[in-house]
Amino acid sequence: MAPSADNKLEYFFEFIGSSATICIRPGSDFSPTLPRHKRVLSLLAFGAIVENMLLRATELGFVGESSWLPCDDLSIIARVCFSKNIEISPDPLATAIPFRQTNRQIFFRGAPTSMQKDLLAAEVQKHAGTRLLWLEGDKRWRALKLIWLAESERFCSIRLHEELFSTIRFDLGWKDTCDQGLPPAALEVESVMRPMFKAIRHWPLMRCLSAVGVHRLLGLRAGFLPAWQAPALGIVLTSLPIEEGAVAAGRSFERLWLRATIDRLVLQPMAASAVLSLQEDTDLYSSKKCRNSLRSEWADLFPGEWPAMVFRMGGMLKTDLPSVKTGRRLLSSYER
Ligand SMILES: Cc1cc2nc3c(=O)[nH]c(=O)nc-3n(C[C@H](O)[C@H](O)[C@H](O)COP(=O)(O)O)c2cc1C
Repeated sequence: MAPSADNKLEYFFEFIGSSATICIRPGSDFSPTLPRHKRVLSLLAFGAIVENMLLRATELGFVGESSWLPCDDLSIIARVCFSKNIEISPDPLATAIPFRQTNRQIFFRGAPTSMQKDLLAAEVQKHAGTRLLWLEGDKRWRALKLIWLAESERFCSIRLHEELFSTIRFDLGWKDTCDQGLPPAALEVESVMRPMFKAIRHWPLMRCLSAVGVHRLLGLRAGFLPAWQAPALGIVLTSLPIEEGAVAAGRSFERLWLRATIDRLVLQPMAASAVLSLQEDTDLYSSKKCRNSLRSEWADLFPGEWPAMVFRMGGMLKTDLPSVKTGRRLLSSYER
């Protein structure tokens, strides 16, 4: 039930019965040669998965400990060792796991209170090396420009365009949900825009439209506008090395999201501006200009740290609920 960037993350659980250990093995698409932003997105999701496992274990009377990317077996992402502990009390965050979901409604209403903001920041701080910052004033304006830049780039770079549209299940129409990939209904595209949105999945058309600047308009709708109007805009930062930081931030972000769910707050992750800034020059997914702008602006805003996740937030009671809930594959299909 944990989130992952495009709801298509491939991985398997391997149960080592005698030692009450569960290993997570990634699918073949997770390799050391993956472009940096894709690897970071996957590690953020693996962090969220393990956080959910550890929280759920407390409800079953277990404590767990995770070790990451162990050197003795390079095909394992994480090993989680559980032990029975009669003194453990269930972590209340676990109760929110089935209810957490992404909300992409364009308008969020109702801001989190300052007490709620402090509680959310405290959840992030539980994983050393990560922190939550609420973007306000000048920092918020500068972040909004980066969100616009990165979301626009997703429509004008052939590789990012492929990455985005290959995950959207247009075969479902605009009402149904699915257990893998992104159902179009979850994207909350306005009815009048749907035919156009479906048509631009064809790269030759999108390339022509980009030549006259349409990607900037799409980036405005997909990123700038929803983030600009959101009652709160936050960022999870880390000072850790890239892979370690991605795992820790994934775990922190999941705790934040579960706490927000308990507090009846809604959230949409907006990862592009953060993760595209991490690309290496050889990755060729975004233009050099875009990559350098993101990199230098974030470094100027937060020296000594890197942005793992940007998100917008509002109040569930005042905001429309998401049109559909994105599904998951059967649990048995993850077992090996
Ligand atoms: C690392 C990560 C990055 C994500 N980036 C985005 C994003 O940029 N935009 C967005 O709308 N959703 C984003 N999501 C949300 C996922 O699309 C969502 O979790 C997934 O489709 C499953 O849906 P659910 O969260 O409703 O269960 C991200 C999630 C994760 C974990």
